[in-house]
Amino acid sequence: MNNFEFYNPTRIVFGEGKIAELDRLIPADAKVLILFGGQSARKTGTLDEVEQALGQRQFGLFGGIEPNPRYETLMKAVEKVGAEGYDYLLAVGGGSVIDGTKFVAAAAKYDGDAWDILTSMGGKVEAALPFGSVLTLPATGSEMNKGSVVTRESMQAKLPFMSELVFPQFSVLDPVKTYTLPIRQVGNGAVDAFVHVVEQYLTYPANAPVQDRFAEGLLQTLVELGPQALETPEDYNVRASLMWTATLALNGLIGVGVPQDWSTHMLGHELTAQHGLDHAQTLAVVLPAMLNEKFEQKKAKLAQFAERVWHIEQGSDAEKAKLAIEKTRDFFERMNVKTRMSDYDLDETAIEPLIESLTQHGMTQLGEHGDVTPDVCRRVLQAAL
Ligand code: NZQ
Ligand code: ZN
Repeated sequence: MNNFEFYNPTRIVFGEGKIAELDRLIPADAKVLILFGGQSARKTGTLDEVEQALGQRQFGLFGGIEPNPRYETLMKAVEKVGAEGYDYLLAVGGGSVIDGTKFVAAAAKYDGDAWDILTSMGGKVEAALPFGSVLTLPATGSEMNKGSVVTRESMQAKLPFMSELVFPQFSVLDPVKTYTLPIRQVGNGAVDAFVHVVEQYLTYPANAPVQDRFAEGLLQTLVELGPQALETPEDYNVRASLMWTATLALNGLIGVGVPQDWSTHMLGHELTAQHGLDHAQTLAVVLPAMLNEKFEQKKAKLAQFAERVWHIEQGSDAEKAKLAIEKTRDFFERMNVKTRMSDYDLDETAIEPLIESLTQHGMTQLGEHGDVTPDVCRRVLQAAL
């Protein structure tokens, strides 16, 4: 196991009816800006519940944060914070709203050009407004991590940043709030969480049995409960376990002391920036092809994944590993997330611009060995057509 330092200050307040706890969680004298997405939080009644829980506090609203939150929109929120003097932010929504709120929290306290926050991958963040979240879509883990991904429409760039200053102070996770999710988002959420675990697990053996077993437990839970959430959307226990699984998949715990990959995510971000695919759709397209491309290097862990997650007992390590990749693709398809570029009307002509932009963003040495170069990514996309 590698040396590591683990830090995660986010308080999780979990369970039905827990939005009422906002009154205890947010300072009584805070002036709160509530940030939300399109119409879902309003339509489902979550926003009303949040407003009620804030009691006598002064608050304002900023709606319209898009899926794959846009820099251009978020800068309007930054302006509003400055003009109206908010000192606390509250994100109500999925990963996009929480990521967007993280950016607003950092940009509101940043003196220079706020785009620096992304080009420095968070290195330039020295202060941020405090904030909390009410999660409505289990997928990204943003509710309990220090990462955020922002898209700048005018540059067709989707870039991540990280900073310990943007851990949410708390996140309220009420599984009932996920009942209203459209099928597409239930599938996306399970696939995203699955790939988060894979990026931290399917590398090479690192003498980290407890991280491996945490990861395998999360993967098995997703495989078992993901389809159940599609079949019986209002099953509290299924939703509760899925929600907690997605949080644990990317709150830092399973990734300590082990090598990590993230090449599928970085290549996927380019597909969203140029073609607007949902984040999880990009992962479902890239991951099976990436695992095939890096087969030899990943074979030992793939065979372990085959045995422990998919219960494949027969055959050589290579045979087990191949079958596990196929089972992974089938799982994504069962969750209604398509796994080929052609499923999204993309052909060979899409590949070169994606590779160019990946290169331009400096993503030229990806993966756990730093050997996933633009040439490797080109082959992956060709295999994913
Ligand atoms: O905008 P509204 O109307 O609210 O609708 C949203 C949105 O259209 C809807 N929705 C959310 N909760 C709902 C609901 N509809 C009905 N009922 C509910 N309870 O779902 C749609 C998608 O929401 P979005 O927040 O975009 O989805 P997700 O949580 O999957 O977030 C995706 C974003 O997170 C980034 C992705 O790149 C993408 O931009 N990621 C963030 C990470 C992080 N911070 O650590 C890691 C991830 O790898 C990922 O990159
Ligand atoms: Zn993801």
